[in-house]
Amino acid sequence: MSDIVEIRDLRNHDRQEVTLRGWLYGKRTGGKVAFLLVRDGTGTCQCVVEARQEAFFKDALAAGQESSLVLSGTVRLDERAPGGCEIAVTRLRILQAVENYPITRKAHGTDFLMEHRHLWLRSPRQAAILRIRNSIIRAARGFFDGRGFTLIDTPILSPGAAEGAGTLFPVDYFGETVFLAQTGQLYLEAAAMALGKVYCFGPTFRAEKSKTRRHLTEFWMIEPEVAFAEIQDLQDLAEAFVCHLVQAVLQEHRGDLELLGRNVAPLEKIAPPFPRITYSQAVDLLHSADVQARLEEELEKDRKQVQAWIAELAHLEEQKARAPQGWAQDKLAQQIQDLREAMRELEHSVEHRPQHIRDAREFVWGNDFGGDEETIISRQFDRPVLITGYPKKIKAFYMKPSPSNPEVVLNMDMLAPEGYGEIIGGSQREDDPDALEKRMTEEKMNPAPYQWYLDLRRYGTVPHGGFGLGLERTVAWVCGLKHIRETIPFPRLMGRIYP
Ligand code: 4AD
Ligand code: MG
Repeated sequence: MSDIVEIRDLRNHDRQEVTLRGWLYGKRTGGKVAFLLVRDGTGTCQCVVEARQEAFFKDALAAGQESSLVLSGTVRLDERAPGGCEIAVTRLRILQAVENYPITRKAHGTDFLMEHRHLWLRSPRQAAILRIRNSIIRAARGFFDGRGFTLIDTPILSPGAAEGAGTLFPVDYFGETVFLAQTGQLYLEAAAMALGKVYCFGPTFRAEKSKTRRHLTEFWMIEPEVAFAEIQDLQDLAEAFVCHLVQAVLQEHRGDLELLGRNVAPLEKIAPPFPRITYSQAVDLLHSADVQARLEEELEKDRKQVQAWIAELAHLEEQKARAPQGWAQDKLAQQIQDLREAMRELEHSVEHRPQHIRDAREFVWGNDFGGDEETIISRQFDRPVLITGYPKKIKAFYMKPSPSNPEVVLNMDMLAPEGYGEIIGGSQREDDPDALEKRMTEEKMNPAPYQWYLDLRRYGTVPHGGFGLGLERTVAWVCGLKHIRETIPFPRLMGRIYP
């Protein structure tokens, strides 16, 4: 057998005999030839089998989508071929001939695809997202490793809440109720007092009883924590961090972004300085006549878009009725399905938008921003915006109140542009033991499980702080995805735990 080569390396093997292992992704047949589109996880390659190869031509004709196979053949560079080369097959062994693979070129709705997530991952689009996710993780770790941070693994089983009792997942721990970690932060603060600059990267859990396109119940967070850092330092760090992540994806994944249909122009604008505003200024934005007028305009535009799509759908249906059965018709069916889904979403949004616009106009200082407000605010900027100084009463107990106005805290949220909303939440921490204990009492927290946390303020307390970047929200933004569910291999959502 000739050397086993991955599809991504085929171009270096022109005119050589190679062996390829993979799965049948698609197939076209003429009378005397079969074109097998083979994928191996590193790319796809067209492999040509001729009828005179009687030993396996029939097998090639019979194999269905996702049949597993090993083949050998000669590489031919050919600019017209997808991927830039093809293989003239000399040997073919079907490892398993598959019939009736559930995910076909025919139209599938999102529910069906989610139910078949274990197979859906094989689609080029899903694979591209997972590759980008991987690069964002690598870039994130590289960023902190390169700046002298130490990676700290924080526990997943924790005795108490950190981000509000409302979203805790309880676990039975030998008869005692403990909880899945909502954040690694509190433990990371202990590590920062030991090592100075630390970060953690791990899964976090929130029993979010909301079915939104931004919420998972299990998500991954990258959290740095820095001794002696104050809120401005944290803003600088978060800004440099996000620029680094976006640059890494732009450098390494042009092809994948194109495959995803991501317009890279908005990503290319991501550079410092990011706009920095206060919570109060963000509230003023929601109230401003300018923003209100722009929202009405956008709504009108979207109403027209719905009308245009209705016409386009009718046109596609007509085309489909006239198209010959098979590939052309399947493709139209998929287009119709996608357009229907997009239209349903837009219609839903258009229907609820007048209420959102009203809510923005009447937003009361002191309330937390919901997803709709975040969308509106983030749309006003072409870069991520950093918002500081949220009202103390809507934020976590550990945040330090501002010395100039104790009603607000020294926190920051970063909202990604294009309407994506919050990707980072962070703050300077309360470093005074008495003030922290007082705040915990106000919040009616049981101090017993937090004695160790108070110790950090009793023995050599210093100003410090950090933030958490939600990996999946960042992937959704960078990839330009409508919903967070495609950013993680097996999403956990309210109402979904299979597969
Ligand atoms: O703003 P959050 O709740 O902040 C913390 O957990 C802090 N302890 C972090 C810190 O200071 N070390 O969450 C941080 C980020 C959010 O900005 C968001 O990107 C993401 O985590 N996130 C979620 N992502 C997906 N699904 C959810 N349910 C999320 N909740 C938060
Ligand atoms: Mg937050």
